[in-house]
Amino acid sequence: MQLTKEEKEMLAGKHGRAVKSSMDILVSLGEIFGAKRLIDVSSVQIAGVSYDNLGESGLNYLSDLAKDGRVRVLTTLNPAGMDMENWKRLGISPEFAEKQIRVIEAFKRMGVVTTCTCTPYFIGNVPHFGEHVAWSESSAVCYANSVLGLKTNREGGPSALASALTGKTPESGLHLDRNRQAEMVVNVAARMEDVTDFGALGYVIGKKIGKKIPLIKGVEKASIEQLKSFCASIATYGGTALFHMEGITPDRTRVPKQRVGVTQKEIDAAKKDLTDGEEADFFAIGCPHLSIREVEEVARLLSGKKVKKEMWICVARPIKRIADQIGYSKAIEDAGAKFACDTCMVVAPVRGRFKCLGTDSAKGCFYARGRHSFRTRFRNIRELIEEATR
Ligand code: F3S
Repeated sequence: MQLTKEEKEMLAGKHGRAVKSSMDILVSLGEIFGAKRLIDVSSVQIAGVSYDNLGESGLNYLSDLAKDGRVRVLTTLNPAGMDMENWKRLGISPEFAEKQIRVIEAFKRMGVVTTCTCTPYFIGNVPHFGEHVAWSESSAVCYANSVLGLKTNREGGPSALASALTGKTPESGLHLDRNRQAEMVVNVAARMEDVTDFGALGYVIGKKIGKKIPLIKGVEKASIEQLKSFCASIATYGGTALFHMEGITPDRTRVPKQRVGVTQKEIDAAKKDLTDGEEADFFAIGCPHLSIREVEEVARLLSGKKVKKEMWICVARPIKRIADQIGYSKAIEDAGAKFACDTCMVVAPVRGRFKCLGTDSAKGCFYARGRHSFRTRFRNIRELIEEATR
């Protein structure tokens, strides 16, 4: 790889130990992926923040980097294993909380904005079209590449942190325009009305085309909430980090010859596949984390009602603060639902506490089954609130 004078100095340790070990990671990755050089990034989002994933060795690694490492670009975090303020209310043990707090403190010492969310684009980590970034959470990466027109590979936690500490990433994969072209046309002939329709669409397309980049035709309009649900689902069930949606997403692409279709029947079947439980004892809305518009919808639907089961509303803390100011939080909390800021039902250690999750997230169904062995009920927000309050 061709390195600049400054990059060579970083690699030689002239900018400190954390920068040196970060450059070691980036140069090794660059060589593996055939990158000719490193490029600057303007933003980073780091996944692998939950102590449940990191364990003691991950915590020690972060504490060591924090001795002299400082981030060079705007950097935010993916959800942690608990709400950093209200962890007791969500049933988290003090032992786990103590470890998770130490993880977040290590990031803070490095200058990371310790807002823990998979929707960094709702809280100000939102560069403009065409910028190179290093994000790691799969739905956020897909949203960045496809909806915002940013350029990022799906980074692992350590490589994203290395980019934060150096401001660099290898120029490979989706940073190169030639790798951002659609590989298959997907014609959608189905009603796309709510977030669960888009979650089911991501499920169907993901299973059909895997990691290929689709050019999706036939979707007339999509809100940012529907697109975030679609991103989470297609990245989970297929693995792609980029799609083009005709008339909706901003990037240009050539039109490939290969074509597949999606029918209404397949969307209906996907919704059935995502439901294998009869009755939920745990409800979680906000995977990916909710927009303020979705919080308003939840508040309106919960107003004057009481939830009879555990219900989590997963959001970034700054979105919760806005909801506090407007009064949405009061309506939600008066109904007995709980905000789960900084975390979600997947990364929190909830295995064994519940049997069946009710959620509007196709991605949430996948991980609730795989990670927590829950059954799932895939329903839209209105239906979930009806079930939780009856
Ligand atoms: Fe976000 Fe957790 Fe879902 S990190 S995308 S809410 S699994």
